[in-house]
Amino acid sequence: MKGILLSGGSGTRLRPITHTGPKQLVPVANKPVLQYALEDFREAGITEIGIILGNKGREEIQEYLGDGSAFGLDITYIVQGNPLGLAHAAGCAKDFVGDDDFVMYLGDNILHQGIEELVDSYKEGDYSAGIALQEVADPRQFGVAAVDDTGTVTRLVEKPDDPPSNLALIGVYVFSPVIFDAIEQIKPSWRGELEITDAIQLLLDEERTIDSHVVEGWWKDTGKPEDILEANRLVLEGIDGSAEGKIEAGAEVEGTVHLDSDAVIEDGAVIRGPVAVAEGTVIGDSTYLGPYSSIGPNTEIRNAHIESSVIIGDSEISTTGKIIDSLIGRNTTIANSEGLLPEGRRLVVGENSDLNL
Ligand code: G1P
Repeated sequence: MKGILLSGGSGTRLRPITHTGPKQLVPVANKPVLQYALEDFREAGITEIGIILGNKGREEIQEYLGDGSAFGLDITYIVQGNPLGLAHAAGCAKDFVGDDDFVMYLGDNILHQGIEELVDSYKEGDYSAGIALQEVADPRQFGVAAVDDTGTVTRLVEKPDDPPSNLALIGVYVFSPVIFDAIEQIKPSWRGELEITDAIQLLLDEERTIDSHVVEGWWKDTGKPEDILEANRLVLEGIDGSAEGKIEAGAEVEGTVHLDSDAVIEDGAVIRGPVAVAEGTVIGDSTYLGPYSSIGPNTEIRNAHIESSVIIGDSEISTTGKIIDSLIGRNTTIANSEGLLPEGRRLVVGENSDLNL
């Protein structure tokens, strides 16, 4: 079995963060989102991986993942180019997949319990495809499955106004190569995309059997800033406390702290875990770093109060104003404007930013 990881798309809902990079490299607990999917592949014993690249951030993704050997994987890059839909992206992998079955994983989705159960369930039967489902509060923003009393999938519909159930299709699928014939037959949806949901529906129309698997652990599609923050909270919930860096005497640390090498928690800083602090970052005196915060690499934080936030890295934060529920991009400076007249907030904010002052 092979794996394909979809890493295209334009990431519009994550602007301005995605003005300068692909959404799949946005960090959650200081690790790019797509790395969680790659670790799931490896744990399921799937090591031959095709990465489908869009136009955005192609080089950055290739630079980060290389040939995959650092992650225990053998990676092939496939260029999709323009984001014409998930089915179009899958179709680009036809030659790479050949006659094998394969798992398709959306590079911006994170699954707590990995993909082993889904893959095993598919292998146990004679299926053309396997889908992963989870109950959601508002199914209208997802692909939705109708299932009968025995759990058999009867119908799939993409972003329905009137959902037939509250079971959303989550971003992991198992396919046999027959999916490529279906992809060639479908037409673009109202949003102008070739929908993988429509391709699987076509398999149902051809009376092929589809396995469905309800995923128990949490699942997060990290399309929007609030999803990144929520995924960050969920991952930090289960993070291990390791302190490769240095905690100075006099620092007050409670709860789980994951501290990478060359990170320093200085005397006088107060930390309440779970938090993650990446390589080369300094959490200085008079800083309060509260639960569910991830601070990326090479960052200096002084006199600040930060909670439930993701600071991507290479930044300097020294404001005494509280920073909560925030997603802060790379190379950012946030300081006090004390003493400067006229008094007020001084902002240099990129396009598509979202500030609540
Ligand atoms: C895509 C799929 C949808 C699925 C979702 C899971 O939606 O089209 O069926 O439920 O991923 O994250 P999109 O993220 O393109 O809106």
